[in-house]
Amino acid sequence: MTSAFTSPAGAQLPPERAAVVSVRNVSMSYPGVRALREVSIDILPGEVHCWVGENGAGKSTLIRVLAGAQQPELGCIVVNGELAELSNPHVAIRMGMSFILQELSVVDGLSVADNILLGNEIKRGPSVRVADTRARAHELLDRIGFGFVDVRLPVRALSIAEKQAVMIARALHLDAKVLFLDETTATLDNEEVARLFEVMRGLRAEGRSLVFVSHRLHEVEQIADRVSVFKDGTIVATLSGAEITQSAMVRFMVGRDIGDMFPSKLRDKGEQVLVARLLSTDSVHDVELSVRRGEILGIAGLVGSGRTELLRALFGLDPLRSGSLTVHGVPAVFRSPRDAIRSGLALVPEDRRSQGIVALRSVEENVTLSWMTRQRRRLRWRAEGRRMAADLVEELRIKTPSLHQLVGLLSGGNQQKVVIARWLSIRPDVLLLDEPTRGIDVGAKAEIYKLIDKLARDGMAVVVVSSELPEILGLSNNVLVMHGGRAVAHLSGDTSEEEIIRFAMATEGN
Ligand SMILES: Nc1ncnc2c1ncn2[C@@H]1O[C@H](COP(=O)(O)OP(=O)(O)OP(=O)(O)O)[C@@H](O)[C@H]1O
Ligand SMILES: [Mg+2]
Repeated sequence: MTSAFTSPAGAQLPPERAAVVSVRNVSMSYPGVRALREVSIDILPGEVHCWVGENGAGKSTLIRVLAGAQQPELGCIVVNGELAELSNPHVAIRMGMSFILQELSVVDGLSVADNILLGNEIKRGPSVRVADTRARAHELLDRIGFGFVDVRLPVRALSIAEKQAVMIARALHLDAKVLFLDETTATLDNEEVARLFEVMRGLRAEGRSLVFVSHRLHEVEQIADRVSVFKDGTIVATLSGAEITQSAMVRFMVGRDIGDMFPSKLRDKGEQVLVARLLSTDSVHDVELSVRRGEILGIAGLVGSGRTELLRALFGLDPLRSGSLTVHGVPAVFRSPRDAIRSGLALVPEDRRSQGIVALRSVEENVTLSWMTRQRRRLRWRAEGRRMAADLVEELRIKTPSLHQLVGLLSGGNQQKVVIARWLSIRPDVLLLDEPTRGIDVGAKAEIYKLIDKLARDGMAVVVVSSELPEILGLSNNVLVMHGGRAVAHLSGDTSEEEIIRFAMATEGN
């Protein structure tokens, strides 16, 4: 029967008997978008099944269908040999499926214990047994190596990795047989990813199944038993064992070899554009940095080391306590981002949902927003704005049915591209990028690297914060390493991952 797994989806396969979940010929459309076309896929017991594919390929949509949040138009889903009517999220949970999504559905104000047992509290009569609830929550967290988390704390106080652990503990309390993790490593640092993978391996050893969606193909290579590649709403290949290589995944995803991910770093550097001297805010301390025209400066460091806060300080988002900034040799005081933008700076923020996009506006409006505010006679510029938006949509390969589509309806990675397009539209002198390729597929990543390189070559000074060391090394002419809010090392771009990690992990006083 194994040969059936490598058959193209859409063929009329019978449900695989051994499977925990069998999806058969499922089709689903959003207005104007066919998100899934006759998809068939099996989740086997005790496997880590990774789903990869370009932005907008349909991965999250299939998860939403399995979660009971979207109804398919055609096809059926069989769970444990039983035809499932996934008409609402409760059914999915009852059938043994749990979902850990990037937009975590924890309740920030409730305690860790209450989040884990929410709706399934341990009761005696009508009243909740608080002590038992806490003990149970602790036991579950301990099982996955997070026993150090205080279950009485509000979830708000936890890191993202710990919040994910809470969701996994909740899934275990519900005795989920299949856990779906949609891009859950995008916001974790390397150590946290390693720990999550340990947890996943433990759950697999218990015979549970895990579906793991990720754009980080090196991680997929590490953890996957099987990989299904999504493309344009279908599954174009399912790989297993030795077939699972990054290049094979890329070939099926993109339909071609990408070649070199990174452009050459030999760039002509010009005069200094942005210089910071002993820059301090509440969260960064005495940072020195300078960027020249044509230079890409990479900022590395662990999550929480002050990288984002440094960009905020440079962009006038956090008030300076001391130190100074100059732009083109002229002292600059930014009381707000508006001042920074006027001086030629732009910031592509890390958290696109709260800071980047206007979900209820169209792609065109989002792309031209910053550019338009610079134009005086708006009506006159409408047509030009539209042309520019169309060009950027094409250049960045933003997948959207039209320029009028609401940005909130695009897939995650495509929303990120819209944010980048917005700032590219104003062609700034200094471009600050915070995790520019988070959640972006490999093909588009290579495109974005090319674009960043081109902008530098055209004379822009670029600062890139990234948790992905290959990205830092592949792009940067110089690297600044942050630790505890301080710049602990200024390295040249030919440094190594090991050296960066050594500085990033350095303990105070070293
Ligand atoms: N609520 C919605 N309304 C309209 N179209 C949508 C909606 N949600 C998703 N889409 C579209 O459906 C298609 C599939 O999107 P989906 O979110 O499943 O992609 P994905 O594979 O998860 O991508 P990514 O890697 O970027 O997260 C995309 O073209 C997307 O724009
Ligand atoms: Mg998605």
